[in-house]
Amino acid sequence: MNKPIRKAVLPVAGLGTRFLPATKAVPKEMLTIVDRPIIQYVVDEARAAGIEHIVFVTGRNKHVIEDHFDMAYELEDTLRARNKAAALELLEKHRPQPGSTSFTRQQAPLGLGHAIWCSRDIIGDEPFAILLPDVIIKSKVSCLRQMVDLYEKTGGNIIAVEEVPDDQTHQYGIVELAEQINDKSSRISNMVEKPAPGTAPSNLMITGRYILQPEIFDLLSSQGQGAGGEIQLTDSMISLMSNQSFSSLKFEGRSYDCGNKPGFLSANIAFGMDDPALAQELVPFMQEMLQHPVAAE
Ligand code: UTP
Repeated sequence: MNKPIRKAVLPVAGLGTRFLPATKAVPKEMLTIVDRPIIQYVVDEARAAGIEHIVFVTGRNKHVIEDHFDMAYELEDTLRARNKAAALELLEKHRPQPGSTSFTRQQAPLGLGHAIWCSRDIIGDEPFAILLPDVIIKSKVSCLRQMVDLYEKTGGNIIAVEEVPDDQTHQYGIVELAEQINDKSSRISNMVEKPAPGTAPSNLMITGRYILQPEIFDLLSSQGQGAGGEIQLTDSMISLMSNQSFSSLKFEGRSYDCGNKPGFLSANIAFGMDDPALAQELVPFMQEMLQHPVAAE
């Protein structure tokens, strides 16, 4: 039987330079999509997949993330005194159990691979999930849940993938596929970070959700700098592929890369449209914007 996936790592130590000046004092992960910080969507996805413990790899100026997942005594007491039961329930629903989170600091933003390596002692010798908190996924079933379901059948390492137009493959990490497992999944034979236009081995991009075996940590500990002078997770995954299986999963749902402005704004619209009261106001506004962009100012 495959060892269960109990722990997840959320690397949140990046600088978020694409959102300056917003991210000068507020971590990118705390920017809001409708009424929840980005990071809350990702934690909710992990918990919906049965994750018991979440490891946040943080950096300087990120302590507000720790506060967000803690009990806010004064606020909750005030809400209780004012009989605001719905607001209290909302806070309780989103708060992890005491002892089910860990925070460790990366100290220097040396790359995603280095951030993941910083979680090695807390993860220990068991398979684990990684969720890049820039990416939120709108789906009926949590994307990580879909991955865990596949993992329970195949074991090994699993990477969530999504189709992108051929002319955009050079912007992403792209997988090369070998034999098919089923209509949503195949063995992965290779991965390429940002392939030159026209050279991509497929149109399936790596979405930011991984299930990995703990042997990745040994590889990360000696991984040299890769693309952009950073320690890259992809480079160690390629090494691990020579003696362990990697499978892709075309999950059901759609990802929004909130690490860039178009993705962040699209996510606000897409998740806002889920609320019928908001949709009623948003739809006429968007129609007006499309017809008369200047008049809508
Ligand atoms: P990104 O490169 O997209 O995030 O890293 P960034 O560096 O915060 O953003 P920009 O480019 O400056 O705007 C992808 C994920 O990896 C984490 C980031 O926090 C993000 O969730 N990361 C990246 C780390 O935790 N540490 C690093 O050294 C690099």
